[in-house]
Amino acid sequence: MQPSPYTPGEVARTVPGRVRQLAEFDERLSYLVDLGRLVGRIRVDHAPRGFGKTSLLRQYQRRAEERGVLAVWVTAGEEGGLVAQIAAEIARAAEGWREDARRAIRTRVESLSVRVGVPGVVGADAAFRTGQAASANDSRAFEALVRSAATAGGRSGLVILVDEIQAADPEGLRTLAYAWQHLQAEGADVPAAVLAAGLPNASDAIATAVTFSERFAYRPLPPLEPDAEEFALAVPARELGVAWEDEGLRKAVAIARGYPYLVQLIGDAAWSEAGRPDPGGTITAADVEAGREAMEADMEALFRARWANATAGERDFMAAMASFGDEAVRRSAIAAALGVSSESLSVHRARLIDKGFVQAVGRGALEFTIPGFAGFIRDLGDE
Ligand SMILES: Nc1ncnc2c1ncn2[C@@H]1O[C@H](COP(=O)(O)OP(=O)(O)OP(=O)(O)O)[C@@H](O)[C@H]1O
Ligand SMILES: [Mg+2]
Repeated sequence: MQPSPYTPGEVARTVPGRVRQLAEFDERLSYLVDLGRLVGRIRVDHAPRGFGKTSLLRQYQRRAEERGVLAVWVTAGEEGGLVAQIAAEIARAAEGWREDARRAIRTRVESLSVRVGVPGVVGADAAFRTGQAASANDSRAFEALVRSAATAGGRSGLVILVDEIQAADPEGLRTLAYAWQHLQAEGADVPAAVLAAGLPNASDAIATAVTFSERFAYRPLPPLEPDAEEFALAVPARELGVAWEDEGLRKAVAIARGYPYLVQLIGDAAWSEAGRPDPGGTITAADVEAGREAMEADMEALFRARWANATAGERDFMAAMASFGDEAVRRSAIAAALGVSSESLSVHRARLIDKGFVQAVGRGALEFTIPGFAGFIRDLGDE
């Protein structure tokens, strides 16, 4: 008996199928480390929940660290705001640096007017403003902090990773964007980069906060291709001496439909149906079939939580959508099913996209972000 090598709901250990994203990141990282240059655009990988954003960002972090870069990680949306979070992480990292480098960072952090609660780094008596519009001073002070962090402490640069960027405070986004704008405009050779991940509404959240958007490069993170799914299922098993039957693999891929979270769930469920095999064992199509039933309980719990999180109007909207089947539905068709005008749907539509329940496909069409949700909603009608 061996424990499952799959990671439902946890950061993936490897990210098969993300070759392109990693190659693009490596190219930018080389620009930063080898040429000592600022990466002028803030990359935002965006996708609905469970598509592997955090896992990808963790890979970026690991690669940056392997090249001797200081890679600080923040999950936006926490108290204090984005800039304070980043400053606190940089200050934390600097604690292990030489005294002069540490002092340089401390001075920079103190000159930021946001609240940064880092015990021992910023004194409790320091007077901070909070909740005010980002001042030019803030972005200058933040810029100075980025400069110091990128070069002090003997590191070969600074990479700032921002997960859940759609939840960041508008002032924080503004300060970050202005700082990057200035650094870029000055042609400053500051080896620094910002990589972010967020829900599909990240670009809206950023556009609301920042009037210029050229600083940001938005990259949708697509579903996995079947060969990447097969890789994600077969390789962790093979490393434990366990083989997947071709038929089992095909079945699992058909169930997961490119959705990374489902790949892990079905892999995990099939593994346990196969009796958590020892080296030499096999995972069969029958294990996958049995695993699917076990998995449905997990999926049902996830769907129920989402459904509970929707308002009555949003539920009507989703029920109308689901009545058309599992494929993308035109907005006009949803409006017709509800007997309302297309325009009157826009509030529900926007809220559902923000929540990551549905996503836009092409012009004027919508689909559910998780395979199986439409079926769940249709079944609710029979209860
Ligand atoms: N490339 C990949 N191949 C296979 N599985 C993956 C891949 N990337 C992530 N996963 C798995 O998919 C699930 C979701 O991953 P992750 O938490 O990174 O997604 P996310 O987009 O950040 O989700 P959320 O929006 O909920 O934070 C996890 O179970 C993870 O192990
Ligand atoms: Mg995440």
